[in-house]
Amino acid sequence: MSKKEVIYDEALVPSYQLPSLLGKSDGSSAATAGEWLSTRRPEILAIYRERVFGKWLHRPQIQWYETLSVREDALDGEAIRKEIRIHLGSAEGKTHSFDMLLYIPKTATPEHPVPVFIGLNFRGNHATTDERDVAMTGFGYEKNQYLNDESRGNSVPRWCFRETIRRGYASATICYHDICPDYNDLSCFRQSVLSILGSTDDLSLVHRNYTAIGLWAWGLSRGLDCLESEVLVDSSRCAVHGLSRLGKTSLWAGANDERFKLVISTDSGCGGAALFKRCFGETAEIISTAFPHWFVEAFAQYRGREDLMDFDQHFLLSLIAPRALCVASATEDLWADPLGEFLAAKHAGDAYRLFGLSGIESDDMPAADEWLTGDVSYHLRTGKHDQTPEDWAHYWVLADRIFQK
Ligand code: GCU
Repeated sequence: MSKKEVIYDEALVPSYQLPSLLGKSDGSSAATAGEWLSTRRPEILAIYRERVFGKWLHRPQIQWYETLSVREDALDGEAIRKEIRIHLGSAEGKTHSFDMLLYIPKTATPEHPVPVFIGLNFRGNHATTDERDVAMTGFGYEKNQYLNDESRGNSVPRWCFRETIRRGYASATICYHDICPDYNDLSCFRQSVLSILGSTDDLSLVHRNYTAIGLWAWGLSRGLDCLESEVLVDSSRCAVHGLSRLGKTSLWAGANDERFKLVISTDSGCGGAALFKRCFGETAEIISTAFPHWFVEAFAQYRGREDLMDFDQHFLLSLIAPRALCVASATEDLWADPLGEFLAAKHAGDAYRLFGLSGIESDDMPAADEWLTGDVSYHLRTGKHDQTPEDWAHYWVLADRIFQK
């Protein structure tokens, strides 16, 4: 589909056939969890690494954490707040760092560490919280328009730190620009973590192998490494979440790093939870033209040729199985194709069933603001493209269920 013809009418959705999730490349089907894990899952992961989001970068040879600040009386005395610099280094002595903001409920103890949410933010750590003494971050992107005092706290409802803490969860965030700035061309890699851990001399080579989404997702894993060293946090109970492009990112992080036990995408749309083959709203062509650095070069073969895809986004979601998955959409976010997100979540259920878990059984989307809560969860929030307290309400309930609080 070309850009002129963005489809917002179900009647115009082309007919398509979804590739079989369980069908292995040798023609047989994965029939057990063991076969899934040993054969089919690696095949699917390889498709995404080779043709969509690129290679998973190696772990840095050198990694250390510097505590920049600690407040014992944060959020009106309900939380401990930390700002931690995550330093990554290469054997040649090159370094890159980004800063994580972490809130931990005061009720946490080393004997009873708490589960944790982690997600990347768009604007800077200072925008996620109403505490005005949090350091500004997001300098990785020179055009970041939120590097000012007026922008402090302007994303608070997307983060809901106070309620998350009250419910007994820690919550961590990093500004995505500080891992790889989100410039709309390949030059972004020069200022990214890849510049020290790989090589960015030849950008066309980078484009063949790596993507910004891949680097952001990998940065979430480094955040989780750091959480592993926090005694008040139980990093074995970690939920990763993200909105929009950062929801595509949380899915890719969950696909690669099995330490994420609950994976949440909010309004992740094209390249995230939505099926490509429906061509509803944003398409492969539109997204890879506007954001060439989000996909590897090989993805370009699918521009306007979704019919050539031997995968679709139920494959991406299936990589989370048997861990918990939640896909969230919003009624007014047609660009992200809510029905396509629902259908991908539903079809990912085939992988969950191999583990004796449940998928989404219904063929119909739930009514707006109704939650489908299970091993594969879904909701369609009334409203616009955003992550709101109404979304969080479902995430907390899910986390309570999964982390057995
Ligand atoms: C654009 C892009 C989407 C993306 C969104 C966002 O709208 O087309 O794919 O999800 O930005 O990240 O906000």
